[in-house]
Amino acid sequence: MVTITVCVGSSCFLRGASQVIEGFRTLIEREAPGLVELKGSFCMERCGNGVSVQIGDCIFADVRVEDVESVFREHVLPAVEKKAGCAPNVNH
Ligand code: FES
Repeated sequence: MVTITVCVGSSCFLRGASQVIEGFRTLIEREAPGLVELKGSFCMERCGNGVSVQIGDCIFADVRVEDVESVFREHVLPAVEKKAGCAPNVNH
């Protein structure tokens, strides 16, 4: 099971965390139902670079709603298929 955690702290919320969550939810339902867990978290202490998203052990910064699909395809699906590890990275 791959876990996506989206920061829903106040700064990330103002930067569009709800839309980012909705984008991931739609993609999970369509492409990997039952294989990806989606969670919210309190502040990840990267407020200046939100929306902050953690996928497995990796933190991604500055994730906008328009980035969700590429992050999902490049980092979530490979993790689901266990094709790729994910080096810690603050940018996507
Ligand atoms: S509010 Fe998201 S990192 Fe602080």
